[in-house]
Amino acid sequence: MDAKLIREKFIHFFQNKQHQLVTSAPIVVKNDPTLMFTNAGMNQFKDYFLGNETPKSLRIANSQKCLRVSGKHNDLEEVGVDTYHHTMFEMMGNWSFGDYFKKEAIAWAWELLTEEYGLEKDRLYITVFGGDEAEGLEKDQEALDLWKNWIAEDRILYGSKKDNFWEMGETGPCGPCSEIHIDIRPEEERRAVDGKTLVNEDHPQVIEIWNLVFIQYNRMANGSLTPLPAKHVDTGMGLERLVRVIQGKFSNYDTDLFIPFIRKVEELCGKKYGKDEKTDIAFRVIVDHIRAIAFTIADGQLPSNNKAGYVIRRILRRGVRYGYTFLGFREPFLYQLMDVLADTFGEVYPEVKDQKSFISKVIEQEEASFLKTLENGLKKLEQITSGMGKHSDKVISGELAFELYDTFGFPLDLTSLIARENGFSVDEKGFQNAMAQQKDRSRSAAGLETGDWVILQDAGEVNFVGYEQLESTAKILRYREIKDKKGKQYQMVLSQTPFYAESGGQVGDTGIISNERETIKVVDTKRENDLIVHIVDKIPQFPHLEVHCEVDQDQRNLTMNNHSATHLLQAALKQVLGGHIQQKGSFVNREMLRFDFAHFAKLSEDELEEVESLVNEKIRENIALEELRSVPIEEAKSMGATALFGEKYGDFVRVVAFDREFSIELCGGTHVSATGKIGTFKVLSESSISAGVRRIEAVTAEKAETFIREQMQLLKEVQHILRNPKNIKKSLEDLIQERNELRKAIEQLQLKEANHLKNQLSTQFADMGDFRLLSVLVKLPNADALKKLAFELKNEQERIVAVLAADIEGKPQIAVVISEELVKEKEYDAGKIVRELAKEIKGGGGGQPFFATAGGKELGGLPSVIELAKKLFSKRQD
Ligand code: ALA
Repeated sequence: MDAKLIREKFIHFFQNKQHQLVTSAPIVVKNDPTLMFTNAGMNQFKDYFLGNETPKSLRIANSQKCLRVSGKHNDLEEVGVDTYHHTMFEMMGNWSFGDYFKKEAIAWAWELLTEEYGLEKDRLYITVFGGDEAEGLEKDQEALDLWKNWIAEDRILYGSKKDNFWEMGETGPCGPCSEIHIDIRPEEERRAVDGKTLVNEDHPQVIEIWNLVFIQYNRMANGSLTPLPAKHVDTGMGLERLVRVIQGKFSNYDTDLFIPFIRKVEELCGKKYGKDEKTDIAFRVIVDHIRAIAFTIADGQLPSNNKAGYVIRRILRRGVRYGYTFLGFREPFLYQLMDVLADTFGEVYPEVKDQKSFISKVIEQEEASFLKTLENGLKKLEQITSGMGKHSDKVISGELAFELYDTFGFPLDLTSLIARENGFSVDEKGFQNAMAQQKDRSRSAAGLETGDWVILQDAGEVNFVGYEQLESTAKILRYREIKDKKGKQYQMVLSQTPFYAESGGQVGDTGIISNERETIKVVDTKRENDLIVHIVDKIPQFPHLEVHCEVDQDQRNLTMNNHSATHLLQAALKQVLGGHIQQKGSFVNREMLRFDFAHFAKLSEDELEEVESLVNEKIRENIALEELRSVPIEEAKSMGATALFGEKYGDFVRVVAFDREFSIELCGGTHVSATGKIGTFKVLSESSISAGVRRIEAVTAEKAETFIREQMQLLKEVQHILRNPKNIKKSLEDLIQERNELRKAIEQLQLKEANHLKNQLSTQFADMGDFRLLSVLVKLPNADALKKLAFELKNEQERIVAVLAADIEGKPQIAVVISEELVKEKEYDAGKIVRELAKEIKGGGGGQPFFATAGGKELGGLPSVIELAKKLFSKRQD
């Protein structure tokens, strides 16, 4: 069975048991502050478990793209070193939302593994939850009894809370779990050591393949467990491990999911996989990481300097670093795996195939820039180990090791290895401390401390009424306090709301929530999973009273103009530049709009003008908004509606069109009733934000008007300054030309004058015996002229010392120049002399022994400089 068939079989098996197939949610999580990436199949169903939303089906199955590289579930350091952990992996799962429970989940898991996939029963072991006193949780006797129907009791083990109580994060749905483990060691090894003793002992051939979680609790922010109203099933089986087991391989990397990648890397680096453990680790890291990187970029997350973008950047760097150190890559290589990736996954996950060239462009550029950083990091480390740094005690400090890790992507083992090779050691404890400190910092930077909800009523379905009305009445369902960097804030959820929650690039609404006793300000509105959360300035004092909601109309209208204009802009870009234009991000508020899109070249002035004109033309056409709600997703797509990669769409979607032939998008945002309301559209800038991604910023309506007015005003002022010529452009050009001519004339005059001055000065040297001294006051236009004069005197005269006390446009400067032979014979030093003289003008300076300059503050001191110089040299003469 190949991987594709194994994946299909899973889905078919559960479809036959009345499960609805659901597509994978995006790998990057958008509306959940507790989670950055999807780390389990159940994430997208969190609100079903918590009872915030009604499931669309009580039984669901799917294969979900997961990433375990941050937060509670983080396997990054194991990846590549072992043969069965991954950053990105596919988790197949089946779910019951308050429908079947342990009995069916267990029976079906057993049936699928042993009958459909044909795994040998005597290689399987089961673990069940053994209870936890501190949590007040009993052991899972029920699961044990059910498992006994299928497997001998001595193959069932009790496990601790660590292994057999599953939680998605610090808070959220959780419960006891049963894990299925398999022993795939060869016969003789199995005879020698009982497989049972190796379960959960990190043995590479005795591994967990499936986890059945019985979700019964919600972990609260205060650490306590609250029982959920219903009991659910959440299971997860890593496809990569299952494929390995079914295909009889000892490593996930020997399956058809990874072999094509390994072959490609072999071809690129000229080395073979399976020859040496060190290079093998590098192979595994690379073929694992490319998947995480490509899938995440496909879902709209570009590598960047913070949050999810930074995690991706670090994974990419880890891959590059392994390739650099162990496989000899010096040029970008990861991006060259994109063809293989598109071939392997394109059918199941079309987003990687459709965006192949974009993704590989982004990766290539990241690689190229990191390769430079990497070389700098290596140099830094070499400098220290070769004794050029100040680390004479032969220890690399924890801070430095951490800097190398954090900035240059060097894992501790690499730093230690290079250190050891050079007779150094690394302060590992210091490294761990620095790491812990950074974790603390990033925790407090995220800084979000969330209290538990005070629940007045269950949430049920979210009722957003803000498409039609900006006011409504509602009941308060729940509220809580949160603390972040800005201080304390409060959050409130209402039974229905006209407040639009930030999403799809449109900012959240602001406004007022009030009742007869109090008024509460809404400063922002956000989405948290499926709840609409109002961020408010105080906690409600009378939470049981009905409230009146009022959205700030002005802000909403201005924002709507910008949102609708963004749709027109996207359509115009497609028309002018081509159908490849893909949205990569957008932001609209009352002030402006920003639209990011995949395109490989800077837009020419003409293209930009054409786009802007087209948008304005569509505004003038005053096209009425066509808004369709609850359109089945497939129907919407076949209407040609633009969907975004990385966006989680339900089965029914909202479609927003301004002339279906021109602009039609899947969108939840709020829009103008007809395009004419946008008034005017004006592009402010077009720029690049990263490889292959361009950004347009623009304004509409009043803002566009203001912008244009300000530009006109500026022009008027310029015209006025130019004394109202008929043709400003010509007048400015003439002015510039005249200025250039004048400048040339002045330069010639200055040259003449300087020559004249020089000739004059040449006759003023005083004879000092074996040398001649000039100490005079001069007036010059600038410092360059002074320098020039000094050097010409030096070049044309022999055995001289010249002290030029200059008045440069009212500022005092001194130049001292000395013939080379005097410097040698008499050890004169112009630098020292100028410093001494500079005291007379309250200044300082320096230079070389034969030429030095100084500036100062006191013009009146110049005569004393001349006198002092004369005195100094006559003294020297004595
Ligand atoms: N949610 C469970 C897991 O991820 C199935 O292991």
